[in-house]
Amino acid sequence: MTATSFPKTEIKILLLEGIHPIATEAFAAEGFQVEAVKGALPEAELVQRVADAHILGIRSKTQVTEAVLAAGRRLLSVGAFCIGTNQVRLRAATQHGIPVFNAPFSNTRSVAELIIAEIVMLSRHLGDRSREVHEGRWRKVAVGSHEVRGHTLGIVGYGHIGSQVGVLAEAFGMRVLFYDVLAKLPMGNNRPAKLAELLAQSDFVTLHVPETPSTKNMIGAEELALMKPGACLLNASRGTVVVIDALADAIKRGHINGAAVDVYPEEPETNSDGFSSPLRNLPNVIVTPHIGGSTEEAQEAIGAEVSASLIKFINTGATTASVNFPQVELPVTKGTHRLLNVHKNVPGVLRDINKIVSDMSANIRAQLLATDQDIGYLIMDLDHDVSQDVRKAVAALETNIRTRILF
Ligand code: NAI
Repeated sequence: MTATSFPKTEIKILLLEGIHPIATEAFAAEGFQVEAVKGALPEAELVQRVADAHILGIRSKTQVTEAVLAAGRRLLSVGAFCIGTNQVRLRAATQHGIPVFNAPFSNTRSVAELIIAEIVMLSRHLGDRSREVHEGRWRKVAVGSHEVRGHTLGIVGYGHIGSQVGVLAEAFGMRVLFYDVLAKLPMGNNRPAKLAELLAQSDFVTLHVPETPSTKNMIGAEELALMKPGACLLNASRGTVVVIDALADAIKRGHINGAAVDVYPEEPETNSDGFSSPLRNLPNVIVTPHIGGSTEEAQEAIGAEVSASLIKFINTGATTASVNFPQVELPVTKGTHRLLNVHKNVPGVLRDINKIVSDMSANIRAQLLATDQDIGYLIMDLDHDVSQDVRKAVAALETNIRTRILF
């Protein structure tokens, strides 16, 4: 650390909404000051509290509005300790020069395990049998109950979750087909297939695609009709992927034997809101309240992943995996001085910055720039400790959004 570095002990981290303690521990181990608040804060209070924070950590309930971002004059970054980032005004954050990090893949395993459990449950009509016994009815039946071994699972969307499901299902003795828009490396004996072929051959079809225009209503009446009679459908991806009325209809007609659904086109905002769906009370249908990724292990993994991204950003400027920023990561070279600059993305900025540096007779040891529609993000390593002068000159440029010296 040189004299120009901002002391680590002065870095203030404000964590809201009961973020897992593993994150607090990681920040404390770096020497940062951490304040952890249990709940979310209303905008007016957050505007006050964020004023002297360098990092703001939230989960899904805190709204990071334009006013919050504007009040965060020292704010270096926002960590969304969850999957979604709708609660953050991302474009405004970008324009303020604030990268936002989340943890999109920390709950992959949790979702994959739920799907495996549900395949067995559907195969044995466990939801119905359990409900009957709870209600005092004893229906001991074997007809229509099956082992999953030797049956075929079709996976639509073979990304992080889909491919894990494929590995686990194969370990169970299932035959696995998958369909993806991209060419994907098959795990184990999983086999790629066309969607129509997968639907026609699978005893269970599980969906693991993102929410995009191409996946909206991807499984409707036509696709359900292509499915093998008696097959089951599982959806723990996004509610918009399946036409729920068409699924309810196919189940009532007996063409589809059962379903496990975790996500819906419209979901209640809070746990106290009610819920209704055409799927309620249909036979062999497992309905869960979007809990695919909700485990304590996933919460811990999220705490570890987002804090690691934030610490790396604070210490090196790396924006890899940020959801709203150009991705820039430059290895740290000993004996250099690092400057970070966020600027408006207009032509000529790099030329202006390089001129400032060369006018001060400093040598650029490394430089990496990436841009998006609004901003450019530059990491620059200099061999002379002229960083303060360079910083002042760069910060004075009309195009400047934020400039800081790292070391
Ligand atoms: P991912 O991005 O790793 O994988 C998605 C895969 O779908 C990619 O391989 C992509 O190429 C493929 N794909 C995209 N469009 C497609 C199309 N039209 N047809 C076929 N394949 C297509 O995503 P990940 O992490 O596996 O998540 C999958 C889904 O699970 C997402 O929608 C996510 O929101 C959801 N999810 C749900 C959770 C829950 O609590 N139920 C928790 C975590 C994720």
